[in-house]
Amino acid sequence: MDRRTTPRFNIDGVGSLRGKTGDRRQETGDGRRYPVSFAYPLLSETKMKIETEIPLIDEILGDSDHGYRNHVYRMVNFCFAQGEFDAEEKEKIVIAGCFHDLGIWSADTWDYLPPSIDLANRYLERTSREDWRDEISTMIDLHHRIRRCEDGSLVEIFRRGDLVDFSLGLFKCGIRRDFIRAVKLEFPNAGFHRQLATHACRWTVRHPLNPVPVLKW
Ligand SMILES: [Fe+2]
Repeated sequence: MDRRTTPRFNIDGVGSLRGKTGDRRQETGDGRRYPVSFAYPLLSETKMKIETEIPLIDEILGDSDHGYRNHVYRMVNFCFAQGEFDAEEKEKIVIAGCFHDLGIWSADTWDYLPPSIDLANRYLERTSREDWRDEISTMIDLHHRIRRCEDGSLVEIFRRGDLVDFSLGLFKCGIRRDFIRAVKLEFPNAGFHRQLATHACRWTVRHPLNPVPVLKW
């Protein structure tokens, strides 16, 4: 089985945000591998730290090298880069981040917000966080909203974080260029946008009058 095209999600078995860590050192031009903080000294000047451990997405995707994994790491980092967040807010961003596009593959659809929200809610119920359902559902549901959401809300932070990565860094949403570059080097695209384009094309052929069902005004 080709794991790059047929991911096996471990959604029902996921129970906590703790788990294994991986070696995410960055290969640099001289052929040696450095921790990212050594490779990009500018980041230490700005005190911006790249989040390299999101055990939940690693638990969900298993050992698949699915491009979605790095998208989650990138967009969560772009959310964290927008301000100071307490532990609960970070946990909400991580949970929403892990599930926000997952329906594309779990339900094999480009109309992926409902199945993604459903997966997130199942996880929240299983981990006794039911009171986060409304906020995380809204974060996922509006993450492709064209208009701004409430300033400073996690919904708006999340919308911007995804936009930075979805636009390949064209929209920076106030995040430093060197941080975006470092995150993209730490977590390469790995075919993620190509996968999105494939799903979008397949959907559009079958639904020409509704090519982007996830866009919200
Ligand atoms: Fe996304």
